[in-house]
Amino acid sequence: MSNLTRRRFLKNTSTAGLACSASLLVGRSAFAAANSAAGANSSVRIYADTRRTIAPLDRNIFGSFLEHLGRAIYEGIYDPGSKLSDSNGFRKDVLNEIHQLGVPIIRYPGGNFVSGYNWLDGVGPKEDRPRVLDKAWNTLEANQFGTNDFMAWCKQVGTLPLMGLNLGTGTPEEAAALLEYCNVDKGTKWSDLRRKHGVAEPHRVQNWCLGNEMDGPWQIGHMTASEYGMKAADAARQMRAVDPSVKLIACGSSNSSMPTYLEWDRDVLEHCYEYVDGLSLHRYFTNTPEETGGESSKFLALNLTMDRQIMESAAVCDMVQGHKRSPKRLWLSFDEWNVWYRARSGEAMNGHEKEAPHLLEEVYNLEDALLVGGLVNSLVRHADRVKIACLAQLVNVIAPIMTNADGMYRQTIFYPYSWGLQYAHGDVLNLLVESSTYDVNGMDHIPHVDVSGTFNRDDGSISMFLLNRDLSNAREVEVVWEDTAPTRVLASFVLTGNDLKASNSFATPQRVAPQPFEKRSVSGARKRLELPACSYTVVQWSL
Ligand code: AHR
Repeated sequence: MSNLTRRRFLKNTSTAGLACSASLLVGRSAFAAANSAAGANSSVRIYADTRRTIAPLDRNIFGSFLEHLGRAIYEGIYDPGSKLSDSNGFRKDVLNEIHQLGVPIIRYPGGNFVSGYNWLDGVGPKEDRPRVLDKAWNTLEANQFGTNDFMAWCKQVGTLPLMGLNLGTGTPEEAAALLEYCNVDKGTKWSDLRRKHGVAEPHRVQNWCLGNEMDGPWQIGHMTASEYGMKAADAARQMRAVDPSVKLIACGSSNSSMPTYLEWDRDVLEHCYEYVDGLSLHRYFTNTPEETGGESSKFLALNLTMDRQIMESAAVCDMVQGHKRSPKRLWLSFDEWNVWYRARSGEAMNGHEKEAPHLLEEVYNLEDALLVGGLVNSLVRHADRVKIACLAQLVNVIAPIMTNADGMYRQTIFYPYSWGLQYAHGDVLNLLVESSTYDVNGMDHIPHVDVSGTFNRDDGSISMFLLNRDLSNAREVEVVWEDTAPTRVLASFVLTGNDLKASNSFATPQRVAPQPFEKRSVSGARKRLELPACSYTVVQWSL
């Protein structure tokens, strides 16, 4: 099924399950709705106690994704002809940006691409690599960048690979062969091939995705849940024979709107629970007539549906754990998430058999960035269950970083993502948030202010991430420190503006950018912050 057809398929099913009450969705962070009729001046109170935490934060929840798609790899991170590239062909400006961001893990090589990819096409001498038609994106793939190139790039960036395996056209045997090629030192067919290709040291890749979105009729090699569950179990068994230490992630539902949502996950896990470590889930949020009616107040609440998807997927894992009387508890890998709805049809999805076509080049605005901030909050407060998550994607394709021949710029969504990377460390705080609420069509009791926070015991720093969904009013927030109160602000920034539709470009790269957050006062155990209307704020304190 083409991606266009995929869009139609999802559109027809997209309203299922959206109606909900926000108080059911926030999950572990206690949430107390104040009077929903409370006026603009009603305050929001956050109770914080560094002894009350949810779980240690796995930094891999701030991972990202690079697919052989459009200009993500070619012209994005790899451009041997460019004046901006190093001797490996890696774009130095992009590499430095991702290094400075500190992205801990990056999923590769797909995505839909992986389900038709033969990894052998991308290794060995570059001049011998075949030019093939990638059927997922109707693109010409020259294979000048492949597994070893990605591993070398990861080393230079200082990130870890999250490798995707082809369980569409690919076999479990081929998946195990790639693992052997990557992780075995020497003395076997595939490890010796790697050495012949000039790479003596094994890559020692720890995390592997067993296919991509296999529940989707658009996926190359799409199959039923039982068929996939058996194939994933077979691949996992063969892979563990090669390297028992790997962490394996089974494909869960690719969207909460899928007609098979949760039932797919249950069926898959009934077949492969004992062989895997995590379950993958995906979600792209839209501001379309179908999902939000174009209403910003509803769009900014959609991260609550991510909380719900996480809780429902975890519940299915636990149900299968119960069926199997297994001592093992699976974790979740939210390995594709973002806002994506504009560059999602027609020319934006069809490569026309060209190399590095401009595909999925979504232009992000301020309100997209605010929702991405909310999504960061949702991932953080589910740190007890989500151990990997990937902002999809990283460069040029539905991305925070955009390149051309002369340079790069940061899209609006870069900022909330970078704040998570920079400021969320240690344990996730179990905050009690009292906020006034509002209702929109299909969602009730949405808190005006959405919060997550972390406490780093090592250096005594506390960070809070606050989304003010109120489109017209600033919100005063009182933080009540129940045990120990911070003494000093280390950093504070806000992303806001008068125009929710404003975006950045090569011509105006700073139109939407963080500003110092000044409106704060300090008074012992109680601190007051004034959050501007429609804003996302980070504050980091030290004890
Ligand atoms: O990230 C873009 C595409 O979205 C991926 O290839 C696929 O997995 C998902 O449907």
